[in-house]
Amino acid sequence: MLSEFVSTQLAAPGANNRHSLHRRLYEAMRRALLEGHVAPGDRLPSSRDLAHDLALSRNTVVAALTQLTVEGYLVSRVGSGTYVSEHLPRPSRARRTVSSAAQAPRLSPRGERLSRDYCASELEVQPFTPGIADFSAFPLKLWQRLQNKHWRWSYAEMLDYSTSGGYGPLRRAVADYLRVFRAVQLDAEQVIITTGTQQSLELCAQLLADHGDTVWIEDPAYWGAVKAFMATGLKLHAVPVDAEGIAPAAADDKAKPRLIYVTPSHQYPTGGVMSLTRRQLLLDRARAHGAWILEDDYDSEFRYGGPPVSSLEGLDKDERVLYMGTFSKVMYPGIKIGYLVVPKALVEPFKQAHYDLNRPGQLPVQAALAEFIEQGHFAATIRKMRQTYGERRAALLAALKPCLSREVVISGAEQGLHLCVHLPARGDDRAIARKAAAQGITLRPLSAYCLQRRDVRGLVIGYGYAPLKAIEEYGPVCADLISANI
Ligand SMILES: Cc1ncc(COP(=O)(O)O)c(C=O)c1O
Repeated sequence: MLSEFVSTQLAAPGANNRHSLHRRLYEAMRRALLEGHVAPGDRLPSSRDLAHDLALSRNTVVAALTQLTVEGYLVSRVGSGTYVSEHLPRPSRARRTVSSAAQAPRLSPRGERLSRDYCASELEVQPFTPGIADFSAFPLKLWQRLQNKHWRWSYAEMLDYSTSGGYGPLRRAVADYLRVFRAVQLDAEQVIITTGTQQSLELCAQLLADHGDTVWIEDPAYWGAVKAFMATGLKLHAVPVDAEGIAPAAADDKAKPRLIYVTPSHQYPTGGVMSLTRRQLLLDRARAHGAWILEDDYDSEFRYGGPPVSSLEGLDKDERVLYMGTFSKVMYPGIKIGYLVVPKALVEPFKQAHYDLNRPGQLPVQAALAEFIEQGHFAATIRKMRQTYGERRAALLAALKPCLSREVVISGAEQGLHLCVHLPARGDDRAIARKAAAQGITLRPLSAYCLQRRDVRGLVIGYGYAPLKAIEEYGPVCADLISANI
C-alpha cells in the first residue's frame, strides 16, 4: 500500500521534476506518513524491497529513509528494521473528525473586534465615498521624474532603515509649511515622518499610554483612531461632539484620560470646527488630568469659506499637544507618508521607539516629496485641487438644497472633502444608505460612526472623489432619497 501510494505520487503530473529523485521520494513518503497511509508503529518494508517495488536504486531509497529518520518520522531499530514513529501528528482526515472536541485556534476577542467593528469598507460604492481625494488629477509625470531622479541618486544610506525620524529636508519642509499655514509652533527636529496618521496614532498610544489606560475620543469618531486605540489595549471613553466640537463638560472625570484624541479643525465625521472656548476648555481639562492631546489635522489643506482655522497646538502653552497630518489627501493615499510633531522632550524617545517598533525607511520617496514641496508643486497642487473640490462642493450643496429644512441641516462644508447632512432622530440613516447603495451611491450613515450615542442620525457625503458630472447626476438622487425617508 505504501509503495502504491508513493509510486502514484512520483508519477503524478506536476511532481516537481527539478528536484533530485531522492528528494521527491522523501516528499512522497512524508506525505504518505502524514496522511495516514501507514499507521504509527507500522514496520516499513526493507529498503531493498522498496527499491524493487518502486523501481529505484537502493541508494535513492536509503537517502530518503535516512532523511525521514533524522527528522523523526521514522525510527530505526537495529536488527529489526524501520518503523513509523509513534509520535507522528494525527493525519489530516482523522483530525477533522476530532475537531469538534478539540479547541480550534481562533482570533482573540480583540482580533474579532478589530476585524469586525467600525469598518470603513462596508457599502464601499462610489461616488460620494467620504475621505477619498481625486488623485487621478495628481501630476504623475512630474512625480515620476522626481522619483526617478532620487532613485538614481540614492546612495547606500538612503536604502537603509531611517534612524533620524525621516529625511531631513522633508522634515524641514513640513515644519516650514506647518509654521506658516497651520500656526504650529515647532522646529524641524520635532517632526517625525511616519507611514501616515494610522502609524502616528499607534506610536502615540504605544508610547504615551499603557494597556488599560483611558483615551477620550470624540463621539461620533474617526474609525481609524478607534481601531488604533483598540489595538493598543486602551479603554475608549466616548465624549459627545456638538456644534462647537468635543464637549469635555459631558465627559466623566472618573474616566481619567491619559490621551484625548480630537479633530479640531474639521471634526470627523460631522465637520464642525472646535470653537475657541472649547479649545481653551479642552486644554484646561487635559492639564487638570495630566493628559496628552492628539490633534489629527487630516484635511486642513482644503478650506473654502469661513474664517481660517489654526491648529489647537498653536494655543498650547505647556507642550501637551501632539499634532499629526497626512500626505494622503494632497498627494495620494498609497504614498503612505504622514508626520507627527512631538514636544521637544519626546523627540529622542519617539525616534528611538519608532525605529525599534517600525523600522522606518522609504527615504528615496521622502526625498522626492521634499523636492516636490520645495519646488512649489505641493502648494500648486493644493491650489488646483482646492478649486476643483470647491466646484464639486458647490454642486453638491446646490443638489442637496431641496431636501434641507429646519430639521435637515448641513455641517462641515467649509473644509475638506466631505460634508454631513444631519437628520431628525426618526430618520433611519442606515436604511437610506442601503437604498443609496442599491443605486450605486455611497452615503455613510452618521450613526455608524457613533460609539455610545443613540441620538445622532445623518449622512456623511464625500465630494472629493466624485466628478462634477456624477454630482449633477447623483446629487438630486441623494436629495430625493433623504426627502422620501424622513
Ligand atoms: C480623521 C482622519 N484622519 C486621518 C486620515 C488619513 O490617515 P492616513 O494618513 O493613515 O491615510 C483620515 C482619512 O480619511 C481621516 O479621515
